[in-house]
Amino acid sequence: MAQKNNDEQFKNVISHAKEYGFVFQSSEIYDGLSAVYDYGQLGAELKNNIKTYWWKAMVQMHENIVGIDSAIFMHPKVWKASGHVDGFNDPMIDNKDSKKRYRADQLLENKIDELYSELANFSAENKAKFEAFQQEILGLSDEGQAAWIPGFKDEETILDNEKYPFVDEVSWRFVKKGLALEVEMNLALKSENLAQLKDLIVDYKVICPISKTSNWTDVRQFNLMFSTQFGAMAEGSDEVYLRPETAQGIFVNFLNVQKSGRMKIPFGIAQIGKAFRNEVIARQFIMRMREFEQMEMQFFVRPGEDKKWFEYWKEARLKWHKALGTAPEKYRYHDHVKLAHYANAATDIEFEFPFGFKEVEGIHSRTDFDLKQHQEFSGKKMQYFDNDLNEEGKPYGNYIPYVIETSIGLDRMFLLTMINAFEEQDLSTEEKQDSRTLLRLHPALAPYKVAIFPLTKKDGLPEKAREIMDELKFDFNCIYEEKDAIGKRYRRQDAVGTPFCITVDHQSLEDNTVTIRHRDSMDQERVAIADLAGIIGKATSWKALLA
Ligand code: GAP
Repeated sequence: MAQKNNDEQFKNVISHAKEYGFVFQSSEIYDGLSAVYDYGQLGAELKNNIKTYWWKAMVQMHENIVGIDSAIFMHPKVWKASGHVDGFNDPMIDNKDSKKRYRADQLLENKIDELYSELANFSAENKAKFEAFQQEILGLSDEGQAAWIPGFKDEETILDNEKYPFVDEVSWRFVKKGLALEVEMNLALKSENLAQLKDLIVDYKVICPISKTSNWTDVRQFNLMFSTQFGAMAEGSDEVYLRPETAQGIFVNFLNVQKSGRMKIPFGIAQIGKAFRNEVIARQFIMRMREFEQMEMQFFVRPGEDKKWFEYWKEARLKWHKALGTAPEKYRYHDHVKLAHYANAATDIEFEFPFGFKEVEGIHSRTDFDLKQHQEFSGKKMQYFDNDLNEEGKPYGNYIPYVIETSIGLDRMFLLTMINAFEEQDLSTEEKQDSRTLLRLHPALAPYKVAIFPLTKKDGLPEKAREIMDELKFDFNCIYEEKDAIGKRYRRQDAVGTPFCITVDHQSLEDNTVTIRHRDSMDQERVAIADLAGIIGKATSWKALLA
């Protein structure tokens, strides 16, 4: 089968997700609600299995991490303290002709990508040199970067850099422009200089993809939090927010959990839950949604030990991803050069989606910022008394812990899992054309672990098949199917990722054996019914993933 291009592959995954009951557009019969999705019967199973994998790895495998489930509504002051009321904004710009609204930084990022696409014309060696050069520039102080721009933008300075003699002159002009824009955009975002963002959009001739004009409004800040009224009457009642991250529910419960659980530093608090963001540019299916789910863990550590734990969690989280058997080259770290004001280190774990490498998970060293803020805004002490002895033999004493956060989007992980598993296989032989669509899910994540088929609908075979199912269903999610030819039933299960299909035939009635068919290899073997639980259990066990 011809290799599908990335766009086509992504579209196929989306339609497959709908066709087989994984993901539906929310309120579809009313033409849908933008960037809101529902998980169908198989999507809910897959999502639950991803949650279980995360929860087991983070909570049950760590004696010093516990899980909570905090409310979506929180006191409005929480969001003042966390900085979300004042700072959780996107810079927006409208095109006056198409009346479409865009994120200013995203328009500029698209332009940067367009300019960087010329890197495809560089030799591998020059591309690597450029990337080193780029890191060097982005690693400069803000002042250093600002000082660097004017000279670099000057056309005459092209190719005068002896350290990085890029040879492809035409492409280099574009790439160089891309780097200058990246630096200018970063500086404008950091200083919240909205006028400068608008100037960049105009200077770099960014046009609206709909109207194709550059008739832009000014750039304005737009807060991403959803708000609603608390109480029966909207009038006079308090405004509350739908949480934009689950992390704050952990911070405000830090002392409750520490005291009630007698937790000793270092320790973590984890939770899985919904978060809501009024994303202006919502796109790429479940990649960027307005209602989504996060799996977050805050790890509380001694000040000064934050760097060590940051490295620990960076590595541990990538290991969690790779244990699923994903090709390692599909993942990479993206260390943040620009840091949020509360962070002293941050990295993203990125996955290569069909639309490029994108963030799936963030690991952030958040210092003591959040707990300090809550201490200030609530007036309650957020300190921990550490009676362990330091190098001088004295107790560490009272301090506000530092925090390392791991934050993964459950929906993004779901999308990653579907994309990674989706395969259209050509099974044609010289005699006939044939193909199958396969979800090569890790067996532990598969919605159904086993499908049970009677070969025919008579002669006592359905009863025998039901008997096997009634035994297995306590430990494994099973599906029973008796409609259609066996080959067709196999294909349907391949398409939803079921790792095993069991066929009950006449021989089964005589000797208590069945045929078990393996999804990936399509191999079939005859096994005793008594051995089924062991075979399925071994392949789908969490232990294999977590050990
Ligand atoms: N507490 C930190 C935090 O919320 P974030 O980088 O804004 O950090 C963490 O979000 C993760 O949540 C992201 O890596 C991504 O996987 C997921 N996420 C963020 N916004 C999302 C959205 N609109 N739709 C789906 N997932 C989203």
